[in-house]
Amino acid sequence: MRRPLMAGNWKMNLDRRGAVELAQAVRRHAEHASKVDVALFPPFVYLDEVAKVLAGSPVALGAQNMCDEPSGAFTGEISAAMLRDVGCRLVLLGHSERRHVYGEGDALVARKLRAALAAGLDPVLCVGETLTERDANRTEEVVRRQTLAGLEGLEPRDMSRVTIAYEPVWAIGTGRNATARQAGEVHTFLRGVLAGRFDDGVAQTTRILYGGSVKPDNIRELMAAPGVDGALVGGAALKAASFNSIIDA
Ligand code: PGA
Repeated sequence: MRRPLMAGNWKMNLDRRGAVELAQAVRRHAEHASKVDVALFPPFVYLDEVAKVLAGSPVALGAQNMCDEPSGAFTGEISAAMLRDVGCRLVLLGHSERRHVYGEGDALVARKLRAALAAGLDPVLCVGETLTERDANRTEEVVRRQTLAGLEGLEPRDMSRVTIAYEPVWAIGTGRNATARQAGEVHTFLRGVLAGRFDDGVAQTTRILYGGSVKPDNIRELMAAPGVDGALVGGAALKAASFNSIIDA
């Protein structure tokens, strides 16, 4: 009922040629992967070019961030409508690097999420605890707060367009993934949060991805954890061979 999604977050990596070649290789592979959805999140400046590579393919295009305002004097920002205009269907919001490196708080992430929906972009809301928070037994409190804040003002019907990504901050880019058990516990907890905030239907149909040091050799185990509907992949999405083998898993 929930189709898995394998998403590649390229972060601030690759050049024009590398972006095009990687998108071409993923496209060729994804055309034969009928059991999963695939999405790529290139840097802003390569979106247009990657959109041309992916046109007519099953691979969805997304941006890594966006502005909460629709247009105007916001130097250096990119609006949801601009992202739609170049062919994006998805947008990552509240990624831990946005929250922890650039200081984005829950309220800003929530404004972005509503702006994305209003402009026709489907948001991927990222949530996750730091190591200090996990060690202090605050994981549930943190992911609950980030999830409820990010979904502020939404109706149950809006949730058909929202994906959640659970990404423990201590697992991102560290090579230390959450165990299947840790991921499963948080995914199950998040479904409970969705059931309380919306209803059981929303809890059972919302796609929840795991992210944080996903690799070809741990993807199967993570996908087998309860409630894990796919992966948001950083480092291992930068090489066609490793991302394509994650798609196959
Ligand atoms: P990683 O990044 O796979 O390199 O840990 C995941 C992410 O930040 O989305």
